[in-house]
Amino acid sequence: MFSRRIPPQLEPNALARAVDALRESAAPVADLTESNPTRAGIPYPDGLLAPLAGAAALRYEPHPFGSPAARAAVALDQRRRGVDVDASDVVLTASTSEAYSWLFKLLCDPGDAVLVPSPSYPLFEHLTALEAVQATPYPLEYHGRWSMDLAAIGRAQDAVRAVLVVSPNNPTGSYITGDELSRLAHLCGERGWALIVDEVFADYPLDADAPLTDIASRAGVLTFSLAGLSKSVGLPQLKAAWIIAGGPAAERAAALARLELIADTYLPVATPVQVAMPHLLEAGAAVRGAIQQRIRHNLDALRTIARGHPACSVLPVEGGWSAVVRVPSTRSEEALVLDLVHRERILVHPGYFFDFPGESFVVVSLLPEPRLFADAVSRLFQFVSC
Ligand SMILES: Cc1ncc(COP(=O)(O)O)c(C=O)c1O
Repeated sequence: MFSRRIPPQLEPNALARAVDALRESAAPVADLTESNPTRAGIPYPDGLLAPLAGAAALRYEPHPFGSPAARAAVALDQRRRGVDVDASDVVLTASTSEAYSWLFKLLCDPGDAVLVPSPSYPLFEHLTALEAVQATPYPLEYHGRWSMDLAAIGRAQDAVRAVLVVSPNNPTGSYITGDELSRLAHLCGERGWALIVDEVFADYPLDADAPLTDIASRAGVLTFSLAGLSKSVGLPQLKAAWIIAGGPAAERAAALARLELIADTYLPVATPVQVAMPHLLEAGAAVRGAIQQRIRHNLDALRTIARGHPACSVLPVEGGWSAVVRVPSTRSEEALVLDLVHRERILVHPGYFFDFPGESFVVVSLLPEPRLFADAVSRLFQFVSC
């Protein structure tokens, strides 16, 4: 009766079951997977959401790509990174996830493929399957830093329509480099592929010095950069994100004309958040600053604690909200994370969740409240070193 786009197995996995059981028992859990800034004690300025209730939000004037004022505010916000974006290239969506679904509708027929990085964001499996698109992984390889396997991308088959890049990547934290971008853009140009660059974490550089961002304005082939309020200003509950289209004018215009039909069919972005967009992007800088401070502080703490545990190592983190820790392979990653839940009441993501090429890795979020973070990380290292 049901579509094959939905996976046949819907039961929660062993880790999710263990966490549910622990939460039902009301035992406190140190959650090092927390990636929701509204639950991490980040300060939000008073009145930040006040414009959502303004009189202008009472009038409904639908625009497929979002109101001109909201799109102009997004374009203007790119200037803080020194980039000139035309508001006509900005498309508002309710989330980055929705942006992916629109771009797959735009670029792919059922059965076509998109190239996705591995390890990376686990949601790609569902985002592609729900659009009847195949996700074909290409490796990111670790040699002191994570780099794209461009030879593997070059071997991809005919059904490919687009290459996805996450920069900085979740969870490896790696930004695309200038050299990777020019080689990738060359391949895309040759094969007629579009480039989709998820830049939701681009505002959060850590080890990276002057990382490459705003890829849509640099690539020279049809490119879509994705970002949104969820990460840029720590407001995932407002459900507003954007696509910035870039590349040769004729291809960009053809893509936007088709995207407009998709956007007009759904009109998902609520009026109040569009009305508030200029204020949210301006006042939200304070939230971004608080998140930047938090992740830097926690990364320093993580490295300091790791120094006392030579069997473990924290991989370099160019940017983003998470860090990858290599731990001794004394048991499987699944056994390790289950033991951590049961014995220490610490929750971390296992590397296999992101398709790491081997064991043993755990991924920790850098967002949690600093005391909780330092305590849980100390106990984590103690546990895996034993
Ligand atoms: C790489 C990446 N892209 C997109 C998202 C989701 O963003 P949104 O809330 O705008 O859908 C996440 C969420 O963690 C993410 O890690």
